[in-house]
Amino acid sequence: MAKQRIAALDDVPEGGNKAFDACGKSVLLCRTGAGVFAVENMCSHAFAHLEGGKVKGPHIFCPLHGVRFDMRTGAPNGTLTKKPIAVYPVSVEGDDIVVDLPDG
Ligand code: FES
Repeated sequence: MAKQRIAALDDVPEGGNKAFDACGKSVLLCRTGAGVFAVENMCSHAFAHLEGGKVKGPHIFCPLHGVRFDMRTGAPNGTLTKKPIAVYPVSVEGDDIVVDLPDG
């Protein structure tokens, strides 16, 4: 795992999300009332980008077909996909969002 600063907290809108490239991956940072989350920016159903999906509490909804993923575990809800998305440990250090990304 490689811990790295991905963005400033202000780079991600409250109640929204934004994708950043890091370690060869597209990492989606999300801010909700439940906190800051970092997930893979790729739906496990038909591989749409999750960026721009609605966020609510610890969940994000895929913008394409609406599968809801739990950003704490990556688990999907519903019947379209059973495959979780990758989620990454995240912390807010001062004004920075720091994410632990797997190597490779
Ligand atoms: S591509 Fe995300 S729910 Fe279908």
